[in-house]
Amino acid sequence: MTADNSTTPLLAARGLVKAHGRTQALRGVSVELAAGEILAVTGPSGSGKSTLLHCLAGIVRPDQGAITYGGERIDQLPEARLSELRRTEFGVVFQFGQLIPELTALDNVALPLLLAGRGRAKARASAGEWLERFGVRGQQELRPGELSGGQAQRVALARALVTGPEVVFADEPTGALDSLAGEQVMTALAHAARESGTSVLLITHDARIAAYADREVILRDGAEVAEGADAVEVSR
Ligand SMILES: Nc1ncnc2c1ncn2[C@@H]1O[C@H](COP(=O)(O)OP(=O)(O)OP(=O)(O)O)[C@@H](O)[C@H]1O
Ligand SMILES: [Mg+2]
Repeated sequence: MTADNSTTPLLAARGLVKAHGRTQALRGVSVELAAGEILAVTGPSGSGKSTLLHCLAGIVRPDQGAITYGGERIDQLPEARLSELRRTEFGVVFQFGQLIPELTALDNVALPLLLAGRGRAKARASAGEWLERFGVRGQQELRPGELSGGQAQRVALARALVTGPEVVFADEPTGALDSLAGEQVMTALAHAARESGTSVLLITHDARIAAYADREVILRDGAEVAEGADAVEVSR
């Protein structure tokens, strides 16, 4: 890896195990994310990528293993402290949308700022700027049901970044976009992250999107099969 090994990683998971019923989604995955690093997580459908993201973002608790953030264990924090951490430090783009259907695109993006206590006018102004960066300012008054899949993904990215989080977790954020639009959105995401030193954990199926990352981790059947600046998939 390119990151300085002498420093503590910002986020680290050791030996994560997670079952969904009888399905063993994660079988002992270890992964590290350095401050400011963009890490791509790739692998076949069902290999555990979303489950890994949900565990790292503190949305789902692993059955076994440890997760540290800034050197402190977070996997066993009480729910209230975990949700505080999620709200203040993390931004999440879910694989399947999760915009609030009753709110316009602008208000969806402004919401995390309002929840953080920011005034309405300032929150809406920042939200508008983030929509602009992702090329969907023109859709700001539309509700999620009126947006295309790709537009909704851009709005979700704007919402994840608007609070200036330390870590952005993005689950296939360009999955509904054609390759040109996907690269435009990825360029905007990488630029925003580099500018503010935000770390990004990015799940993607697209090699061209993974190429924006500093490093790639490949999962298969809930285990890590390869890692590197240009990891090559290996079979076991
Ligand atoms: N809530 C759930 N209940 C039961 N099984 C689940 C649940 N979530 C995930 N799984 C199973 O866990 C395994 C890993 O799922 P996960 O969503 O992490 O895969 P993924 O790598 O993100 O796949 P995709 O590329 O299709 O999004 C799959 O076999 C899936 O069927
Ligand atoms: Mg997934």
